[in-house]
Amino acid sequence: MRSSGQGCWVLLISVGLCCVHRARPRNVLLILADDGGFESGAYNNSAISTPHLDALARRSLVFRNAFTSVSSCSPSRASLLTGLPQHLCLQHQNGMYGLHQDVHHFNSFDRVQSLPLLLGRAGIHTGIIGKKHVGPEMVYPFDFAYTEENGSVLQVGRNITRIKLLVRKFLQTRGDRPFFLYVAFHDPHRCGHSQPQYGAFCEKFGNGESGMGRIPDWTPQTYNPKDVQVPYFVPDTPAARADLAAQYTTIGRMDQGIGLVLQELRGAGVLNDTLVIFTSDNGIPFPSGRTNLYWPGTAEPMLVSSPEHPKRWGQVSEAYVSLLDLTPTILDWFSIPYPSYAIFGTKTVQLTGRSLLPVLEAEPLWTTVFGSQSYHEVTMSYPMRSVHHQNFHLVHNLHFKMPFPIDQDFYISPTFQDLLNRTTAGQPTGWYKDLHQYYYRERWELYDRNQDPHETHNLAADPRYTQVLELLQTQLVKWQWETHDPWVCAPDGVLEEKLAPQCRPLHNEL
Ligand SMILES: *[C@@H]1O[C@H](CO)[C@@H](O)[C@H](O)[C@H]1NC(C)=O
Ligand SMILES: *[C@@H]1O[C@H](CO)[C@@H](O)[C@H](O)[C@H]1NC(C)=O
Ligand SMILES: *[C@@H]1O[C@H](CO)[C@@H](O)[C@H](O)[C@H]1NC(C)=O
Ligand SMILES: *[C@@H]1O[C@H](CO)[C@@H](O)[C@H](O)[C@H]1NC(C)=O
Ligand SMILES: *[C@@H]1O[C@H](CO)[C@@H](O)[C@H](O)[C@H]1NC(C)=O
Repeated sequence: MRSSGQGCWVLLISVGLCCVHRARPRNVLLILADDGGFESGAYNNSAISTPHLDALARRSLVFRNAFTSVSSCSPSRASLLTGLPQHLCLQHQNGMYGLHQDVHHFNSFDRVQSLPLLLGRAGIHTGIIGKKHVGPEMVYPFDFAYTEENGSVLQVGRNITRIKLLVRKFLQTRGDRPFFLYVAFHDPHRCGHSQPQYGAFCEKFGNGESGMGRIPDWTPQTYNPKDVQVPYFVPDTPAARADLAAQYTTIGRMDQGIGLVLQELRGAGVLNDTLVIFTSDNGIPFPSGRTNLYWPGTAEPMLVSSPEHPKRWGQVSEAYVSLLDLTPTILDWFSIPYPSYAIFGTKTVQLTGRSLLPVLEAEPLWTTVFGSQSYHEVTMSYPMRSVHHQNFHLVHNLHFKMPFPIDQDFYISPTFQDLLNRTTAGQPTGWYKDLHQYYYRERWELYDRNQDPHETHNLAADPRYTQVLELLQTQLVKWQWETHDPWVCAPDGVLEEKLAPQCRPLHNEL
């Protein structure tokens, strides 16, 4: 933590450098859903009511091809707050290979210069309310922090009255400094693993029923399982429909919470000086979703609302963008340059993402995004690398000879238990895959998302797609070298780094 004396000095310097020409400070509000997807009116789901997200979308550019670079909570949050992919951050670049909590204990490299660190150093008042799930503390310093580290994640992440009051307090404590506020909802994460008494998605927490407590600002919306929209990758069964209906109720609480947070900024007179971004950390907790690099695991909702860029409000962008673009975007908004520094040896850290602000003016021709997954829980080593290029999607499953691992939270979900029960009983599963396919994957998976949006027809071995396959493989391996991916030579070689880094063959029959 900086002393307030130092904070003042930094403020004076930064006002001199960056903000002197603006009468009013620019601010950022970053809102993150936890395992959120496309269940909103903003993304054309008409079965759910999300009036606050829909209203925000009308003042935003809505991204249709936004992706997380990693399909797991802590590494995704670390990537978002550093601009570095997991293998550099923890996995490739930032060093956050897997989950941060308990025995999993993944952390970012100490020398990573994260977004809150850079913003704080430039005199911007930084705050986090909700789920942090990244560390160590020295890499992610916030001036104002109400997180699971010093309170209940249910309160700071799901109790929207509490969140509203904390936002109010944050705005009161900032003085007239520009601010960066990160509101990380724990909704609509599953709950069955940690607090099953509140329902599969904590959809009963605070609903006023006996033993559930009350969240004064929340009007619960309930859904009939008959009425939900079942995504193509979720089995269409009564168990999965009930699971989705619970998820919708929890999304409704987050939606109302977003309305309250925006109202606090409006009430304080700062909303029109604030860049508002809404997105999620990874795909929804259903099969092929979170922990997968398939489309449902990595595609994210993303709304970017700038009061200074109304030109494309309400429009949909097709540009391929990544959560790795958020750090460059926020630095660009505050006119703060990214520093030149090294994490290991003399290799300078490079941001691979880019600012989204120009996209708010004109549609770019951006067609490529990369993904990288190594772990979720520490036991779940299943490294994958992927690239989307235009309509093509390539996934490299490095450990394709082992069964795909399942995390504890998803394992006990009604959807997955029902799938296991139906499979072992030989009953129809109502699913687009079977468990054997799901567990045992090809080393290379290539999909043409124009012809095959559900990614069920692997073209990697099809001779008509040899050129496409080679192009995407070349792009992928180039990105792995650029981001110092330790897995760049796996599974058929060893990375020998001394002198000139190179892949040495293993002759292991792959
Ligand atoms: C929603 O549907 C409309 C009408 O088909 C379409 O123009 C729009 O792009 C869709 N929005 C998103 C976010 O996909
Ligand atoms: C959490 O930490 C903040 C300072 O970052 C402090 O003001 C607050 O009182 C703490 N909350 C609890 C419940 O300890
Ligand atoms: C939510 O927070 C408010 C304000 O702190 C509190 O009065 C209420 O009891 C909390 N609700 C639950 C369910 O914890
Ligand atoms: C909001 O900000 C924009 C750009 O800075 C400005 O053009 C507009 O007039 C402002 N609107 C209000 C209601 O203050
Ligand atoms: C699956 O089967 C087990 C054992 O028979 C049972 O306890 C459980 O309720 C079933 N779960 C679902 C979701 O059908």
